Amino acid sequence: MTRQFLISALLSFASVSAFAQGPAIFVGADLQLGAKLIADNQCVACHQGKVGGDGSAIYKPAGRINTPGALRGMIEQCNMELNLALFPEEVTAISAVLNRDHYRFK
Ligand code: HEC
Repeated sequence: MTRQFLISALLSFASVSAFAQGPAIFVGADLQLGAKLIADNQCVACHQGKVGGDGSAIYKPAGRINTPGALRGMIEQCNMELNLALFPEEVTAISAVLNRDHYRFK
């Protein structure tokens, strides 16, 4: 039990520190702002309506969104289509959070 906890703690530490470098285009992104914007713009609510569950099944890292640039481009497209009027750094912040939590591009 203790050993298993230690191993999983080590593993999660390893993946967190591996991610800390992250894709270059997300370096310095404001993750707190990104999370807030995702909550404020009904992103998850709408995705849940489409795919059920917690809505995260809409994010497909192995699909056509397969690079950090494509992820950011997709958010920019939503920004226009949904008329969200997000600033470029807000688009980056949202993308960085989705990458951290779902896509995990290096
Ligand atoms: C009105 C409904 C709606 C809202 C609001 C919405 N989305 Fe989506 N989103 C969708 C649908 C539908 C798809 C699937 C499109 C497809 O697969 O062609 C999608 C797909 C995506 C994808 C691509 C998933 C993938 O890997 O292919 C991303 C990223 C995404 N949305 C992010 C967001 C973010 C961030 C927000 C909030 C700022 C948002 N969406 C708001 C409906 C919505």
